[in-house]
Amino acid sequence: MKTLTINRPDDCHLHVRNGEILKTVLPHTARQFARAIIMPNLKPPVTTLAQALTYREEILQAVPGDMDFTPLMTLYLTSATTVDEIKTAAASNIIQAFKLYPAGATTNSDSGVADIKAIYPLLAALEHHDLPLLVHGEVADEACDIFDREKMFIDTYLADMVVNFPSLRIVVEHVTTTEAVQFVQNAGATIAATITPQHLLFNRNALLAGGIKPHYYCLPIIKRESHRLSLVAAATSGNPKFFLGTDSAPHQTSLKENACGCAGCYSAHAALELYAEAFDQAEALDKLEGFASFYGADFYRLPRNSGTVTLEKNAWTVPSIYGEADLSITPLKANDTLFWKLV
Ligand code: NCD
Ligand code: ZN
Repeated sequence: MKTLTINRPDDCHLHVRNGEILKTVLPHTARQFARAIIMPNLKPPVTTLAQALTYREEILQAVPGDMDFTPLMTLYLTSATTVDEIKTAAASNIIQAFKLYPAGATTNSDSGVADIKAIYPLLAALEHHDLPLLVHGEVADEACDIFDREKMFIDTYLADMVVNFPSLRIVVEHVTTTEAVQFVQNAGATIAATITPQHLLFNRNALLAGGIKPHYYCLPIIKRESHRLSLVAAATSGNPKFFLGTDSAPHQTSLKENACGCAGCYSAHAALELYAEAFDQAEALDKLEGFASFYGADFYRLPRNSGTVTLEKNAWTVPSIYGEADLSITPLKANDTLFWKLV
């Protein structure tokens, strides 16, 4: 049987929620990843160090006793964030980054930033304290076509941010387009990007052809095939600017299979297996370890993990749901075959 052993990986973009859903999803991540960058878009959002410490504790409580997992905390940047809070966060050794959501761009982004230029003093503080900025790179402009919102964000905001804050480390989260890949490639070493498994494996036909499939609906929305090919090329290139961030975003099934379904794909149940499939299809399994285990840690200036995980090429069927009753979650590729399995 074909096997692949890599250094223990990190998930550099993860939603684990809180309460009951956290208990269902966290073990899925902890069995594969040593660490994950935890997104702060709870209700209410995690905006202070004190809130992040409480949330971190709740996450640690959900780690099964036989697993070793470290949540890496982030804070939600709002127009009410102060320079002092950024200083406190930077000194804490707990907060790894701040997350910028344009107001209205995605799930739980109501508290996001409406006027990005107005928070430039906060970006200056992040740059000064050397804390990375994680960006949901889409405009929330109703007049902008949903398939163009990432490119519009780059042209309108990101290009200017990069020029104004040349030392600020920025992760363009979950890139989905050729334009975003090119932007990151051409920018300086302070600019990197995460790529999700769904954007590597699927194009928009998976979401829209032959019936609408809400479990493929996430933001930024899955694009056409040419963009998917650009993402695969970037992820498998060995360029350290591109690293693993699942954006696994669980929503209970009833809120996905709904007249107004929530955005977010649940991929944590099989994250590495999904990436292995994408890299295998591209005949680039030798590039998976850098993408999954080294480049993210290096960008965040964290030590690389010790230990390894092993995958084997061994087909299995993904369950139809995880979790109990009305809080159950439908995973990506539910009832479908995956060809790689974590040992
Ligand atoms: C995420 C969520 O549900 O929290 N949804 C998504 O579609 N990716 C938010 C986000 O990362 O945009
Ligand atoms: Zn996300």
